[in-house]
Amino acid sequence: MQAIQLVKYSKKQPQISLNQVEPAAPKAGQVAIRVHCASLNPVDLKLTEGFPFALQKPPFTLGVDGSGIIEQIGQGEAELKVGDEVFFYTPFSETGSWAERLVIDAHCVAKKPKSLSLTESGAMSLVALTGFTAMQKLQIKPHDKILIHGVAGGVGLMAAQIAKAQGAYVIGTARRDQTAVLQNYSVDQVLDYREDNFTQLLNHIDGALDTVHDNGKTLQKTLSVMNRGGRVVSLSMPNLEDMVHLKAHLPAPLAWLIKLMNKKYFKQAQSLGVTLMPQATYPNRAQMQRLTTFIDQHGLKVPVQKSFSLNDYAVAISALKTNKAMGKLLFTLN
Ligand SMILES: NC(=O)c1ccc[n+]([C@@H]2O[C@H](COP(=O)([O-])OP(=O)(O)OC[C@H]3O[C@@H](n4cnc5c(N)ncnc54)[C@H](OP(=O)(O)O)[C@@H]3O)[C@@H](O)[C@H]2O)c1
Repeated sequence: MQAIQLVKYSKKQPQISLNQVEPAAPKAGQVAIRVHCASLNPVDLKLTEGFPFALQKPPFTLGVDGSGIIEQIGQGEAELKVGDEVFFYTPFSETGSWAERLVIDAHCVAKKPKSLSLTESGAMSLVALTGFTAMQKLQIKPHDKILIHGVAGGVGLMAAQIAKAQGAYVIGTARRDQTAVLQNYSVDQVLDYREDNFTQLLNHIDGALDTVHDNGKTLQKTLSVMNRGGRVVSLSMPNLEDMVHLKAHLPAPLAWLIKLMNKKYFKQAQSLGVTLMPQATYPNRAQMQRLTTFIDQHGLKVPVQKSFSLNDYAVAISALKTNKAMGKLLFTLN
């Protein structure tokens, strides 16, 4: 079968190629999936650079999420059947969705939402699970003011719709020219992250999601606009407990450094009476099933910007690096 593989880690120029590989059979607790589509995510680039450190020995197949049809079931898996239409998300050390077939631990797989196509389900796996988990942590009540940074991104668009379905007033940071489209994705108010100083324009925010990786700058400013009792989820602060579920086992000195770096943000949050929750979203079937129920009740839209074949991997990865347009990039296989 064909698979897009990392051949050599590099920050500047990772070597990636489309290789012919032998399909594996599922072991106990695993399933094999014929991939229908696989999404491209910023974490794919980080993994090719060796982030958080080289977790797998090259060559290995890239891609962390997607959708497909169950082709084979390993021993001990009772819930899923051959032929089920599913969506999935892999641990960082067991990637492999950018391929015709994927063998994956069954607990990372769930039946897709009935209200979505297989392509929509695969396009939103990781970003919807991330947005949903974050919005649950914010414990949103009707009329809460929810601030979502990077609202035009994959995660932001999902989080905005999920917050709105719970009755929130949604404020997002993005580019001003994206305002009209964002209104179709449940964003009530858009602030331009390049021009507006949101700390001067906002206050009494009840819940916030920070998706921006800028060494804590956006996070620290966000804490300053929160209500006492407010809740903030940060995707940029590493969460060491979540990392274990992602099978991203960090060396002790790195874990120590992360704890030290996180400490100052927790201290600032505590002094302001704000609950700060770092999140590294991990694969978890029970949570994916809760997401599925939510989607089938409330609906969730995902814009797809462009689909590529596996052969076009170089163009697709280049688009992931440089493209500023909204919507998910996908590999579609069937
Ligand atoms: N911890 C977790 O569980 C988790 C899960 C999923 C993703 N992530 C991470 O979260 C980040 C977002 O993921 P994604 O899939 O949504 O990425 P994405 O689709 O690439 O979207 C990122 C968005 O953020 C915008 N942006 C850039 N700088 C900004 C700033 N200073 N203020 C506000 N918006 C800004 C970008 O706008 P422009 O187009 O103008 O650049 C873009 O719309 C990535 O770093 C990803 O790796 C973490």
